[in-house]
This record gives sequence, C-alpha cells and structure tokens, in this order.
Amino acid sequence: MTHRTMRDFLSALEQHGLLRRISRPVDRMWEPAALAKWMYQALPAEQRFGMYFENVKGTTIPLVTGALGANSAAYAVALDVEEDRVNETLGKACRNRIPPKVVESALCQEVVITGADVRLSYLPIPVWTPGKDVGPYITTNTVTKDYDTGIQNVGVYRTMVRDETSVIPNLAPGRQGHQNMLTWIGKGKVAPIAWVIGASPAVHLAAVANLPYGADEMDVAGGLLGEPVAMVKAKTVDLMVPADAEIIIEGEILLGETAMEGPFGEFAGYMGPVDPRPVVRITAITHRRDPVFYGYTSQMPPSESTTIQSMTNAGVMLQALREEMGEPSVSDLYIDLTFGGLLAHAVVAMKPGYPAHSKKVGRMIAATWPVKRVTVVDDDVDIRDHTHVEWAMNARFNPVRDTVLIDDVYFPINMDPSVRSLTSQSTMGSKIVCDATLKVDAGTFSLPPKEIMAKALDLWKEIGLPEFEIPKRAKLRIDRS
Ligand SMILES: Cc1cc2nc3c(=O)[nH]c(=O)nc-3n(C[C@H](O)[C@H](O)[C@H](O)COP(=O)(O)O)c2cc1C
Repeated sequence: MTHRTMRDFLSALEQHGLLRRISRPVDRMWEPAALAKWMYQALPAEQRFGMYFENVKGTTIPLVTGALGANSAAYAVALDVEEDRVNETLGKACRNRIPPKVVESALCQEVVITGADVRLSYLPIPVWTPGKDVGPYITTNTVTKDYDTGIQNVGVYRTMVRDETSVIPNLAPGRQGHQNMLTWIGKGKVAPIAWVIGASPAVHLAAVANLPYGADEMDVAGGLLGEPVAMVKAKTVDLMVPADAEIIIEGEILLGETAMEGPFGEFAGYMGPVDPRPVVRITAITHRRDPVFYGYTSQMPPSESTTIQSMTNAGVMLQALREEMGEPSVSDLYIDLTFGGLLAHAVVAMKPGYPAHSKKVGRMIAATWPVKRVTVVDDDVDIRDHTHVEWAMNARFNPVRDTVLIDDVYFPINMDPSVRSLTSQSTMGSKIVCDATLKVDAGTFSLPPKEIMAKALDLWKEIGLPEFEIPKRAKLRIDRS
C-alpha cells in the first residue's frame, strides 16, 4: 500500500536517502527553482533527490519539489514497491479501481481561510523559470467537475498567480478541465475549481494519467492506495477534495472573463506562447496545521514532470492494451523519462501473432494516447535500455516498409515547438510508428552458445577481471544464443 499522506511519503523518501533538507533561507522568486534546474540538468537520474526547502523567506510554509519524480526509484518509493513492479502496480490499480469515500472532518481543513483573509502570498509559490517567467505559478492537482454528470476530474494544470486573490489556470481547449468548465459556463453558471497540494502520492501519480473523459483519476488513486481516498466537501465550492492533503485552494471560474497566461518555461524545453485563459477568483485556502507546500519541477526536460507522466502513463497504457483493448500480445511498455506526457516516445515490447500485428498495435497506441512516437519491438528487447532499442532499430527496422506516419493530429496545447507557427497559432502535429520487430527468421544471435558464455564467465572471475552485474540486454541475448 502506498503512503496515505505526503508526509509519510517524504519520511520514507528520506529513509531511502532520496530527500535532502535545505535549511538555508531561500527566495522563492528564483532560488528553489534554479537549484532544481541544476539537479535535473546536471545530475544523472540515479543521483537525483527530492528537495525540501525548510525555510522560504516571507512565509512560514516549507516548499518541496522533485520528490515524487526525482527518478524512477523515488517514484517506486511513492508507490511503496520495487522499481521493476511499477507497471504491474499501476495495472492492478486500473483493474481494481476504488471510488473515494466521503468523510466529514479533514486534516486539510484544520485551518480555514476565507473571504478578505485570503492572500496567495501566504503560500511559498515559486517562480519556476526565474528571469523569464512572467510570475509565480502553482503546479499541482487541479480538480474540476462535469455539471451534468457530477463526475470530477483531476489533472495538473499550471496556474498563474495574478494577484493575491485571483489566478489564471492553463485550462487549454481539448483538456478535460476545460471540458468540465464548459459544462457550467455554457449554462451561465460559475464553475468550481480547486487545487490539491501535497496529497497522498497515489493522488498525485494518478492525476497525470491520460484517462478517457468521464473516468475519475481518484478511483485509480484508490486502487493504488488499496483503499478509498478519503474526500471531504470543499468549504466554499461544490467539489470534493482529498481530506488528507496538506493544502487546498478553492476558487470559482468567472463567467466570461479571460486574461493572458504566460509566458512561462514549458515542458518541451522552450518558453511557451501567451494565450487567453479563464480567470479564477480564489474563495478559500484551507490547510493542515504546519502544512508543507508541494510544487512540481517541470519546464526544461528532463524534469519531475516528465518522470511522473511517463511512469504513470506507461502502466496505465499497458493495462488498457492488454486487458481492455484485446492485446495481451503486448508484454511491456516504457515511455522515455526525458519527455513524458504529451509528445513523448513510447517503446512497446510484444509478441506479434500475425503479419503487421506490430504495426496495428503501434497505430492503436498512437491513436489512443498523446504520445508522438511509438517504437514497437519484440519481447526479447529490454525496452528500458536505449542501446538495446537502438540495436533493434538498426537490425530489425526497414524504414520504408516499417514506418507508419499519422498526419493531422491535434495536440491540445499549443506548445510543440516543432509545429508552432510564426503567428503562435497551433498548427497540426503528426505521429510516427516505427515497427522494429523481426519480420523474418534471422537465425541465431552472433554470440557463442549459452554454455560457452557461462564457462567464460567463470574464467573471467578466475582471472580476477573487474566484477560486473549482467545487464538484462546481455541475459536476453545469451539465453537465446
Ligand atoms: C508539472 C505538470 C504541469 C502540467 N501542466 C499542464 C498544463 O498547464 N496544461 C495541461 O493541459 N496539461 C498539463 N500537464 C499535463 C496534464 O496534467 C496531464 O496530461 C493530465 O493527464 C491531464 O489531465 P486530463 O487528461 O484529465 O485533462 C502538466 C503535468 C505536470 C506533471
């Protein structure tokens, strides 16, 4: 079972040596984000850690970033499983979804601030691309609701702080938060919205799943948690929010009022466009006593955002392909951790059963999820080892025969630099499927048979050559040699 609260998770992460506390006072307008940028730009993934800024100038609330998505080890700690069981755990949670339960009193409402007392500068909301961003923004789980069905959605939508009591969320057309907003606005009603900061890791990791409209990520969070997520009614808006969260911000999307959002550093690695977005009036801030503020590090990849989006969606997609879309032929799925979410590269391992089966699976993935590239390989390839995938691309991929191009794809946010036009209007994107499965019997691998390799390993040790751990790539090859 994953941790019920963010605090439990942070303690576990600290025990694993994956969290560092920084006690020196920091200026939220540049220091935390700039330090996090060094971590993601300079440190190899396995050396990264969550950053806990204990002392943020101008507020009593500490700031944490990079903890859930420092690397795949941190993500596995969040789910309380071994790293190689992450896909399986996500699959199980999708299969066994558990709807939330309603509670009457909640940790997240130990302190309630409403009306004239609401001030967003009370929270340590950072500037994430200092020197370039127009101002601070919140990056966390955003809850909205469909007026007609009452079904809630949670996704992460960057939310620009406009002033002490209003924000501009990046609810882009085509996204589910935007769809939900329209169900209220279309009827002339003010739409409720809430931000959930520092909830159970299950909530955070489920929130970035690309589920169909109408599926509530909170049910998957319950599946991850192994019990229903406890939800409480928000104090000032008609929404349910996770009771054990550190901080909740509540607000109302104003009718007919928009403002320009941005520019901000974007996940694709460039400063993003400035577009009109709805304006929200903040109606309440509620929190636990002595709360911890959590903000995701995103912007230039690789980042926390790419790590969590890739890992969550790989597990979700694998389960859906195998169990809901009739493709048990697919044995594993990995999304490159350096560019998660929209526009990413998915690598899928499968056992093709008939001619062009692998192309069909590649097309299904491209059509269903917002990845930009899909590479399909046989199940004798370690899809987490890019040297092995590169080998398959060279040895088993014939570009003219094995490529599928998919044109006229709308990526629902105007932020793919490769298709952005000079007028900043979104133009259509495209997708590619590379089928790098073997189409003929190519014979055996050009390695000595397994017995000889085993004897050679004994010899290696006898001579006293440097010790090594056998990579999965080598095991897969030697087993078939
Ligand atoms: C740190 C971070 C920031 C994100 N910012 C945005 C954003 O501003 N707008 C957006 O549409 N998606 C953003 N995403 C991606 C969405 O949260 C993600 O695709 C989610 O599945 C969308 O939910 P939906 O499918 O329910 O709309 C962000 C993700 C992360 C982790």
